[in-house]
Amino acid sequence: MKERARLGVLISGRGTNLQAILDASAQPDYPAQVVVVISDRPEAVGLERARRAGVPAYVVPWSKDAKEFARQLHRILQRHGAEWVCLAGFLRILDSEFVDRYWGRILNIHPSLLPAFGGRGMYGERVHRAVLASGARESGCTVHFVTAEVDAGPVIAQVRVPVFPEDTVETLAARIAEQEHRLYPEAIRRVVTGEVRFEELLAQSRR
Ligand code: GRF
Repeated sequence: MKERARLGVLISGRGTNLQAILDASAQPDYPAQVVVVISDRPEAVGLERARRAGVPAYVVPWSKDAKEFARQLHRILQRHGAEWVCLAGFLRILDSEFVDRYWGRILNIHPSLLPAFGGRGMYGERVHRAVLASGARESGCTVHFVTAEVDAGPVIAQVRVPVFPEDTVETLAARIAEQEHRLYPEAIRRVVTGEVRFEELLAQSRR
């Protein structure tokens, strides 16, 4: 079998998307495997999910020195031979040096239909609250490549879900999370197999 693509996953919290990627990796025909997990928070539940799956898990506490923080991430990723970086509920904005170093190899998942409801400060419940306040009739989730501008890199894949009048932040978040867990492993598959190419998407988005 071909060598599987090596993923480093960065988390800050629950890690349900990490779990979905770990579950996909457990399938023998899945073209990628998680080789390391890093959290900026020691209490992240996702760390336990990594350990349970036998994947090395590290904590790199956030430091005000964003460059030094990113260098520490890089050292660990490098040590484990991670070729791709998957942000899965990772709440820090990565330094541009890091983004350049892994250019076209960093993926992120966002709980809305980007470019709608994205950008700095739009994460977690805030996204769903803004969607509900806007009266939008649909929302969803997006997996995209990470570039310097927050939530603005080329879109790899999206899933749409309806928003119902009786929805609360919780019911909408749950409907979207269920789709995220299918979408992220599938988007990773497309990227690591070359079915979707960063440079092509970037060129299209600039046209
Ligand atoms: C997800 O909604 C994801 O889209 C966003 O943060 C949340 C992470 O959830 N970036 P989890 O930690 O994977 O459970």
